[in-house]
Amino acid sequence: MTEVQQAPVITVDGPSGSGKGTISQILATKLGYHLLDSGALYRLTALSVIKNDIPLDDIAAIEEAALNLDVVFKPSSDGSEQTVLLNSEDVGVQLRLDDTSAMASKVAVIPEVRTALLTRQRKFRQKPGLVADGRDMGTVVFTDAKHKVFLTASPEIRADRRYKQLTEKGVNASIPHLLKSIIERDERDRTRTVAPLVPAEGALVVDSSELTIDEVVQQIIDFINN
Ligand code: DC
Repeated sequence: MTEVQQAPVITVDGPSGSGKGTISQILATKLGYHLLDSGALYRLTALSVIKNDIPLDDIAAIEEAALNLDVVFKPSSDGSEQTVLLNSEDVGVQLRLDDTSAMASKVAVIPEVRTALLTRQRKFRQKPGLVADGRDMGTVVFTDAKHKVFLTASPEIRADRRYKQLTEKGVNASIPHLLKSIIERDERDRTRTVAPLVPAEGALVVDSSELTIDEVVQQIIDFINN
């Protein structure tokens, strides 16, 4: 085993809107660990597909797009946010648009895309450690992680959270539309044959619907320390 492979990993998997982005960022800051937002890699692939008008049945071209993503993640000085540059363009807002989310969920079912992104994701595993946020971090990408977490929340709560996130960024949104697309996306993510969204064996399962961010973080810290 090389030094890089030995860095500890905490995997945080779950559906979008479960709070895993926020929770993972807080955990990484608290622990002084690196952060992998693996959903951003699927969203970046989707954005590249949209920008280059690649048809969804051109698997080779989509795989190529995933392999050749020219992306830079730049954390802010306090680590609380990160700027994402695709081909030197700040795509932070575009990544969160509903069209990008829908396309991300479609490219994520393509096995060639998942394989193309594997190596890139594993490169984030560096000392002193990594918090890996995604859908299959504990089940596929970092199967040997000592601490695995699965975060969940009701679709209504998640739609409400996404609505607030989008409107804060000045993006128009409607709760019924978001709820519908969340339910559809969940179904696709859960039933796909490649890396379906399920808790890893031994994962701490936390339903964040009725919990504050601090309470969720505390449950995870307690889990790690035990
Ligand atoms: O977490 P997110 O909403 O940013 O993820 C965007 C899409 O990418 C979502 O439809 C699920 C998919 N995804 C995935 O299949 N595997 C991951 N590890 C992360 C995200």
